[in-house]
Amino acid sequence: MDAPKSPLPLAPVPPSAKDRLIVALDFPSAAKALALADQLAGSCRWAKVGLELYLAAGNPIVAELKGRGFSIFLDLKLHDIPNTVAGAVRSAAQAGASLLTLHAAGGPAMLRAAVEAAAEIAAQGGDPPQLLAVTVLTSMDAAELATIGVAQSPAEQVLRLGRMALACGVAGLVCSPEEVAMLRQDLGQNPLLVTPGIRPAGSAAQDQKRLATPGAAIATGASYLVVGRPITQSADPLQAAQSILLEMERERRAGGFHVA
Ligand code: C5P
Repeated sequence: MDAPKSPLPLAPVPPSAKDRLIVALDFPSAAKALALADQLAGSCRWAKVGLELYLAAGNPIVAELKGRGFSIFLDLKLHDIPNTVAGAVRSAAQAGASLLTLHAAGGPAMLRAAVEAAAEIAAQGGDPPQLLAVTVLTSMDAAELATIGVAQSPAEQVLRLGRMALACGVAGLVCSPEEVAMLRQDLGQNPLLVTPGIRPAGSAAQDQKRLATPGAAIATGASYLVVGRPITQSADPLQAAQSILLEMERERRAGGFHVA
């Protein structure tokens, strides 16, 4: 089944690895985030501003990073009543985010309100972020899902939430690399699939539970890879990023799944 088309214009997924790696700048201050961004500028194109950094540094950090050439993945994982989330989408557009997350578990009314808010911005000539619905956090496994009353496996829950969110018009999903092949099979090539839970071979899983290597994630059809600590906590972040990019590019050229 092909996913329903988003009412919003979809940006095509760029082919090169550099344009498909999102570095998660999970830092407690603008100074620390910018110090790393300065090392990566030119080599990486996407920066993720998540809750830790955004709450510490607000919209100015988005502007600073954009000024250094980064596109911004604003990972605020919105989950509130429809009216509040619609307002947050408008604020995120003003901040200059290109991708914005919201929790699929917020349900259809919330997701539709977000999509409509973004569509209104586009209709007025603005540039809204593409909306990505977070399915099941990559730090959750079946046991943890059971504790919050979800009896299904992570894969079943991802599929259920993913189908529902795409039917509401979001541009894509955040999921673990373990679910990408299944989602591509079910949803086709159209939706953006953004995968955290990326660990180069041999590196520590930390709190992530549903994982894959960068090459494996590209091979199964991920559109964008979100990588934090394997880069940000490396002794040589630029070298770590370049080696991930190399692995992604090698897989892409080897004929790995091509999303574009
Ligand atoms: O450090 P690490 O590579 O584990 O960082 C992954 C990033 O992806 C974090 O910034 C985290 O907030 C984000 N993320 C995630 N799982 C999701 C959605 C986002 O790990 N389902």
